[in-house]
Amino acid sequence: MSETLAPSLEATAVQPEPAIAVTGLSKTYRTGFWLNKVVSPLKDFSLTVARGETFGLLGPNGAGKTTTIKCLLGIVEPTSGRGTLLGKPLGDRSIKQQVGYLPENPYFYDYLTAWEFLHFAGKVFRLSDSLLKERIPQLLELVGLSIDTARKKPMRTYSKGMLQRTGLAQALINDPELVFLDEPMSGLDPIGRYQMREIILSLRQQGKTVFFNSHILGDVEVICNRIGIIVGGKLVQQGTLDELLGQSKSYRVQGHGGAIDQFRDRLEHFSIQGSHWSGEWGGSLPELLTVLSQAGAVVTDLHWQRQSLEEFFVEQVRAIEGERPLSA
Ligand SMILES: Nc1ncnc2c1ncn2[C@@H]1O[C@H](COP(=O)(O)OP(=O)(O)OP(=O)(O)O)[C@@H](O)[C@H]1O
Ligand SMILES: [Mg+2]
Repeated sequence: MSETLAPSLEATAVQPEPAIAVTGLSKTYRTGFWLNKVVSPLKDFSLTVARGETFGLLGPNGAGKTTTIKCLLGIVEPTSGRGTLLGKPLGDRSIKQQVGYLPENPYFYDYLTAWEFLHFAGKVFRLSDSLLKERIPQLLELVGLSIDTARKKPMRTYSKGMLQRTGLAQALINDPELVFLDEPMSGLDPIGRYQMREIILSLRQQGKTVFFNSHILGDVEVICNRIGIIVGGKLVQQGTLDELLGQSKSYRVQGHGGAIDQFRDRLEHFSIQGSHWSGEWGGSLPELLTVLSQAGAVVTDLHWQRQSLEEFFVEQVRAIEGERPLSA
């Protein structure tokens, strides 16, 4: 009996709902004195982020990244579309306890110390004094702020990086399952950026879901499971780095000799020094080898190279926005 039941129980096992699942999310603002100008920072945005994923949303300035986070968090009501956060409809207050948020320009109470601010943030989540007494120093250590400074100095005396660290500690005060970080690297020096990367990776190891916006593509490349690119309010690409960058691979080839005229025009960035030459090939590998062997060339080095995330990003944005003049 149990043998026959086992497969059907497995088949009906409840899959956890995605951390984020939205379809057709759009946001329109009416601006201007007569409210006759329409701005649409988000257009038909659909996305699913599984639990435990680290998702990076990239896009040029004004692309709609902050608006996306605000719509997902229910801070801004979308004009149309629907979706869920941790299985509950967008805007549902019952999941607030499980969500953390570092805003793009966090506002700090200048006259409070970081400790007082974090205590206040914890109280918003109705955390007990005894829990906060334990958690605040842990978070300060995690984000790299000295406990002494956090206890004694008001936040108006903090540097930009220190405020950003305080903001991150605030976003994690409720030990959230899902964290939204809007430009978390902003204002941080290289050490601070490195630490922020480590913190995001540790959140990932703890099985938390992280959704963040960033302009620092190298960091995104290291941290994310999956990325999305938003341009002009539209999500134009999404996928793992392998899915996105793997699409645009090329080969770097070096060699010497052969009837160079038979292949020089077919290689990108072709250069020649004496009888040695090099170039890049965007087609298939067998075709490259055929072309070179027919020309009688000897290959001395050949490796696969893929586009960097930065090159891919610029290509995607330019395909939609065109070349941006330097003065813009
Ligand atoms: N409350 C608002 N009223 C009118 N327009 C708005 C409002 N909020 C955002 N916008 C407009 O929506 C567009 C997208 O803004 P958003 O802040 O989402 O961009 P972003 O991708 O986060 O940019 P950045 O990289 O500069 O932070 C911008 O053109 C902005 O001016
Ligand atoms: Mg923004």
